[in-house]
Amino acid sequence: MANQLYIFDTTLRDGEQVPGCKLNTEEKIIVAKALEALGVDVIEAGFPVSSPGDFNSVRELSKATSRPIICALTRAVEKDIEVAADALKYAKRKRIHTGIGTSFLHIHHKLMSTEEKVLERAVNAVKYAKKYVEEVEFYAEDAGRSDNEYLARVVEAVIAAGATVINIPDTTGYCLPEMYGAKIKYLMEHVKDIEKAILSTHCHNDLGMATANSIMGVINGARQVEVTMNGIGERAGNTSLEEVVMTFKSHKALNIETNINTKNIYQTSRLVSNLMNMPVQPNKAIVGRNAFAHSSGIHQDGVLKLRENYEIIDPVEVGVQESSILLSARSGRAALRHRLSILGYVFEEEKIDEVYEHFLKLADSQKEISDEDLENLMGKVHRDKQHVKLDSLKVTSGKGLVPSAVVHLDVLGEKIEVSGTGVGGIDAALNAIRSVINKNEFIDEILIQAFSRTTLALGKVHVQLKNQAGKMFHGFAAHQDLITASIEAYLDAVNKMGSIELKKIKEKEL
Ligand code: KIV
Ligand code: ZN
Repeated sequence: MANQLYIFDTTLRDGEQVPGCKLNTEEKIIVAKALEALGVDVIEAGFPVSSPGDFNSVRELSKATSRPIICALTRAVEKDIEVAADALKYAKRKRIHTGIGTSFLHIHHKLMSTEEKVLERAVNAVKYAKKYVEEVEFYAEDAGRSDNEYLARVVEAVIAAGATVINIPDTTGYCLPEMYGAKIKYLMEHVKDIEKAILSTHCHNDLGMATANSIMGVINGARQVEVTMNGIGERAGNTSLEEVVMTFKSHKALNIETNINTKNIYQTSRLVSNLMNMPVQPNKAIVGRNAFAHSSGIHQDGVLKLRENYEIIDPVEVGVQESSILLSARSGRAALRHRLSILGYVFEEEKIDEVYEHFLKLADSQKEISDEDLENLMGKVHRDKQHVKLDSLKVTSGKGLVPSAVVHLDVLGEKIEVSGTGVGGIDAALNAIRSVINKNEFIDEILIQAFSRTTLALGKVHVQLKNQAGKMFHGFAAHQDLITASIEAYLDAVNKMGSIELKKIKEKEL
């Protein structure tokens, strides 16, 4: 049977300590409910003595949740413990998390105390908390840099005082995975009655090793991990929930299981990121935007043949709907065909070459190709087969000038030049074309949009034409030049008006 690993989530306490991540009580309740649905075993809801807001949040979260244990943080100070117990009053399952620094630095340069006095304070705090709650977790702050022998003495004493969970924080993220694993092993082997308590990891990420250290802690006997969603937390953050959970899910041989409903991971990650205004780095393991995105042609081809070729986790397992194939100049025909088929364009083998050529030209001019770009591209490929095409366009306009346009068209293979004037560049170009084409139609609506924060914006134009019978024809085009986009959109709609109208153009002997 697999060993149970308890997930202690401290997103709302250690995570919330990050500058700018403060949440109000309502927002904390939303996150707590999401964490409950995710299946965490313990929610550290706050540090009640630190502020009335924190006190209130712990109290409200206690009322709003039922399955997870609600935990409140304290120092080894009686007043802190009393306030925490009060804040936890409504929790169905509750825990007080109390503790004190055990490293030489903390004892002598922060607490200005001695090893013996710190040990006594630790024991007294646990005994005091035990008066209020059954479950008391003790943290040995800066355990990562604490002397193992002294740490073992403290741990043994607090277990004797009634602590049920012992947290071994690598507060400064100093440990190497082997060191941290060895520390847990040392405690497992040297502390009397260690089986009466659960050892917990609490690793910070200052050297980028929080997850590795937590995993080594579990391999050596810890059965609770303290984590945050997206790894947020003080400085470089805490161990991330999703990384630990998916590591054990991916490595069955480690024989560890959790209660996490992994399919909720992605949505919980987004929720926390949005509410805390804390973007997730794109390459973040499991929940980053690129975690399941494949960009090189070789990888794309491999993933399309068999997902496992380049993915160790099925994205669906963590709530991501599918792996994404990012289309760029490095993508091959396989990826392009795959994406186009999802958009509903299916090609014969030979046709894809023509589309691929257009695609590469576009991909050379921009980093990534979106579905919308592909739709535009397909419009262009389609337009290349149209009866009336825009060959070139020259518009002269400006303050004090009458806007004028010279337009070169290709009409059923014939090259013609038309010119016109108007109230603006688009109007002048349209008047030029309409002097020879389909005078019976009129523009019902023209919608011009440009999306971008830069001057490289892609202009998108929708045109709606109505013929004399009142029938609508919709045209669309996108181009970095808005006048070109407008004329192409207009011609797109004109082409859709069909061969009868086009014959009329021919009749005019253009
Ligand atoms: O990092 C740490 O040591 C902590 C304790 C307060 C548990 O967050
Ligand atoms: Zn911490």
